[in-house]
Order: sequence, then structure tokens, then C-alpha cells
Amino acid sequence: MALDRDVVPNDLSAFWMPFTANRQFKKAPRMLVAAKDMHYTAADGRQILDGTAGLWCCNAGHARPKITEAVQKQVAELDYAPAFQMGHPKAFELANRVRDLAPDGFEHVFFANSGSEAVDTALKIAIAYHRARGEGTRTRLIGRERGYHGVGFGGISVGGIVNNRKFYGTLLAGVDHLPHTHIPENRWTRGQPEHGAHLADELERLVALHGPETIAAVIVEPVAGSTGVLIPPQGYLERLRAITRKHGILLIFDEVITGFGRLGSAFAAGHFNVMPDMIVCAKGITNGVIPMGAVITTAGIHDAFMTGPEHMIELFHGYTYSGSPIASAAGLATLQTYAEEGLFERAAEIAPYWEEGLHSLRDCPNVIDIRNMGLIGAVELEPIAGEPTKRAFSAFLAAFEKGCLIRTTGDIIAMSPPLIIEKGHIDELFGTLRDVLKTVH
Ligand SMILES: Cc1ncc(COP(=O)(O)O)c(C=O)c1O
Repeated sequence: MALDRDVVPNDLSAFWMPFTANRQFKKAPRMLVAAKDMHYTAADGRQILDGTAGLWCCNAGHARPKITEAVQKQVAELDYAPAFQMGHPKAFELANRVRDLAPDGFEHVFFANSGSEAVDTALKIAIAYHRARGEGTRTRLIGRERGYHGVGFGGISVGGIVNNRKFYGTLLAGVDHLPHTHIPENRWTRGQPEHGAHLADELERLVALHGPETIAAVIVEPVAGSTGVLIPPQGYLERLRAITRKHGILLIFDEVITGFGRLGSAFAAGHFNVMPDMIVCAKGITNGVIPMGAVITTAGIHDAFMTGPEHMIELFHGYTYSGSPIASAAGLATLQTYAEEGLFERAAEIAPYWEEGLHSLRDCPNVIDIRNMGLIGAVELEPIAGEPTKRAFSAFLAAFEKGCLIRTTGDIIAMSPPLIIEKGHIDELFGTLRDVLKTVH
């Protein structure tokens, strides 16, 4: 592919990059200038195999024609419509399609523009819901250690990644955390690990400590991604559901990465057959093409707000771009692409091959654990003494040099390719990783 070198600026100083080692990047930039299907094109013209679906979001692969056309058409037809007290058809259509994909009982969709916003929306709805029902004492939120729920103040408060929290003061008041489920007994597990369901019982301890009447909601990722791929132990989510139900506490699943096919099902809730009260999603809802997030709720939650005079706003919350026409058009075309190409089923079909390839890396140097579920995989490396994160980051840099995009968090390599991945790509990705792991020390 011929590249227009002018698209890469000489001066990289103004852009303060998110979650990036800015100084390192700007010394040796890794620029992507185009993308198609399973590949990015780097600024030097190299094809880079996308092992991470962008950032867990381009589930249908890149530059898919239906989505591209839908966005182009929408921007020419209706670029923007006010989100408050006005509507446009595609937002309603998309909400219906998302409802159709969600498990039975999920009836309503509130749109945001990112996972972080959708998380904060769900937390606010949970507290307001209890208040609307006359249980205004239920304001406490429970998250989990190692949880990632985006970067809003709500999200970092219920989240459990220390670097995302410790710089930002007191965070939200009235938050507590469950222990994480990543225990050494479960090393090398394929799929759901055997040990750890009892860790859900810690919720009983928190309930006893705070009083159930003070707790609004528990939020967890059914499969945690950003913190290094933590798969729920067998029976864990079921137990969390039983305890929350027993105490009148809402359960929120943050499905920002598990939503839209990552596990081979539309949502993790359906995959594990554990029904929360709200599902948070984003990323794959528009294939990452236009920012969008959403909260999917049961009728019970929604209807609790539908009281009072009809001319009154029921929920004092929303964003200028909630359900924007272009995001809605991208979402509709994305869901159509998933359905027409049977991509969720495809992910389920190819997942065993993915699992085999991933676990074949077990004998590579410094590998201390491998885990997987659906089209998610993690390779955990022994940290270099006194230099945590360095070994995995070196692997990331080396993989990019060799033409593969992976992601790292701490000393964990996490991969989550587009659901259109072929066996040949899987061989290439893990073959490259094998070579890389031999060379990074
Ligand atoms: C589980 C989870 N929740 C929330 C978010 C935040 O989403 P965003 O970056 O779109 O705000 C992420 C992003 O990776 C995520 O993985």
C-alpha cells in the first residue's frame, strides 16, 4: 500500500497521550495509519496483525464496509440531533436491537459515549432506583479488587487497580471492595477455574459490616480484562447473584469487553446464565468505530422511575451525545454485521483452536501462567526483580517490531483479537509471541 508520509506529523509534543508512557512513545513512535480486517498498517508500511481488536473493541475487524457506509450516509443525512427532549429514529432502533440481543428480562437501554460513562450511569441509576422506591439509605457501592470500570470518579472508586486510584484523592465516599478471584491454585486453567467460588461469600461479610440497607449495588466484570484477564471461578458469579438478591442489592455486570461476542455469546450474562440487574456495555456496540456506551436494564429498574407527572424528566442524567445519530447508525450496522456473519458463533467455534495455541506457549521462558476464555487469552510473565512491568512491555515492543499487536498490563500479556480471526492468524500471533518470549529477558 502506498503511504502518504505527510499524515505523520513531525511534532508530537502537544498530544498528551492517555495511559501511555508519553516520553518513551515520542522517542520511538508506533504510528498506525490504516486498517483493514485483521490488520493495521504502520506508518512505515508494515502490516500489523491485530491481536487485540484495537482496544477490545473492533470485534468485526477493521473498516468493515457496512459500518463504513452507514456512518458516511448518516453524517450526510442527519449529523446531529439534540439528545434531550428530542429524538431521532436510529437511537430507538438501536435500543431495540440491543434489547433483542440481551438476555430475556432486559428491556431498556440508556446510551452514553464510553465504557466509563456507562459505568457511572449504571452506578447513578442504582442509587437513584433505590431512592425512587423509598430506600434512599442504599447508597453504598461495592466493587472488587483488580476491577477495571473505566476512569470516571465512579469507575475508579469501585475499581481496584491501585495506580488508577491512588493519585486521585478520596474518590467516592461509601465504597467497599470484594477480594479479587485470582488465586494461585488456578494457574494454567483453560476456561473457568475450579477454585474460588467461596470468595463471593466475602459479600456476606461486607453486608454484615455495613448493613444491607446501606448497599445499593455490586459491580463486577464477569470476566475481568484490563487487569490481566481474570476468569470467574466456577460457581462464583452464581453465588454473587444469590447473595445480592437475598439482600435486595442490585448486581451490575460490566460487560464493556465481554459484550458483543467476546466469549462466543452476545453477553457474558447469557453465557454464564447468571442474570444481573444491569449490563454495562460499550466498545463492540459500534465495533469501536464511533464512541458509544450503554446501560441495559430490566423493566423493574426502568419502571421505578416512571412515576410522577408526565411532563417531568424522570432521570436527571444524560449526555449531549447519548444515542447520537452517527453512533446509532454505526451501532445498527455493527449489529447487522455480527448477525449476518454469525460472528459470535464463529468466536465460539474457533475458541478451542485459540486455547490450544495459547497454552502451547507454556514452555516459553518466564511464563508463569496462561488462562483463556472465548477469544480472550493471557500469558503472565515472571516480573523482572525490582522492575515490574518491564518484561511484558519489552515483549509488547518486540511483538510490534515483528508485526503483531498485543497488549500488556503489569507483566501480563492480554490478547483479544477480532472475531473474524482465522486459524492462520492464530498460528502467526502465537508463533510470533513464542519468538518474542525467547528473546526478552
Ligand atoms: C470492563 C471495562 N469497563 C469500563 C471500561 C472503560 O471504557 P472506556 O475506555 O470506553 O471509558 C473498560 C475499558 O477497557 C473496561 O474494560
